[in-house]
Amino acid sequence: MGVWRRHVLPRIVDVATGIESTLRSRENVMPYVRGRVLELGAGSGHNLPLMDPELVERVWALDPEPLGWRLARERIDALEFETEFLEASAEEIPLEDDSVDTVLTTYALCTIPEPLAALSEMRRVLRPEGEFVFCEHGLADDESLRKWQHRLQPIWGRLAGGCHLNRPIPQLIESGGFEIQGLRTGFFPGPKPLRYTFWGTARIGDRLPISSRITVRAQSVSEGERK
Ligand SMILES: C[S@@+](CC[C@H](N)C(=O)[O-])C[C@H]1O[C@@H](n2cnc3c(N)ncnc32)[C@H](O)[C@@H]1O
Repeated sequence: MGVWRRHVLPRIVDVATGIESTLRSRENVMPYVRGRVLELGAGSGHNLPLMDPELVERVWALDPEPLGWRLARERIDALEFETEFLEASAEEIPLEDDSVDTVLTTYALCTIPEPLAALSEMRRVLRPEGEFVFCEHGLADDESLRKWQHRLQPIWGRLAGGCHLNRPIPQLIESGGFEIQGLRTGFFPGPKPLRYTFWGTARIGDRLPISSRITVRAQSVSEGERK
């Protein structure tokens, strides 16, 4: 299992997360990424070239598996801002309190084993006015699709390195102490159980809401705007 997780899976993830529709999906939230950025579960750095160098000061890319970062070499070399890889888990972030402006996750909350612990750490490192920006797949709002997501989960989780098809992403984020500011949901091309996606921004609970409405550019996004 160790060889699969450390040496094979990061290569599969690199290819799977680099396909056109997934790149387009992430683009929807990138305009909200700014300042000192911490990306959790950064994988092979597909988000880095999508970040605006005018807005982003530096990026800490955290992942427990270092191979993805090595696969990202060409992407990193082309960047105009500084990056640093943190070989660590989202449940234990090796950064100071209040030290980042944006925490970013894309297709990572599905895999992080203890998401509530990770959200608690995110609140600790995020400065009070900072923003959590996310693009995540998870539990659909349609009952029959949910049934399939629950049915497929045991086998999918084993094949895909602990990825969950059936995490209720907005509820999870709110249980973790964040207030969601803007949220859109919809499907991207591909098997539906894997493609129900949440694009949004959130702030630490009990803070003043700021204008973070998400405008989704992809045509196939169809449903579920909130706020
Ligand atoms: C599906 S990949 C997504 C990669 C990247 N975020 C993207 O969008 O291309 C999930 C990533 O979460 C990472 N991961 C797994 N457990 C983690 C943990 N405890 N903390 C942070 N990242 C973790 C995996 O190593 C993998 O790189």
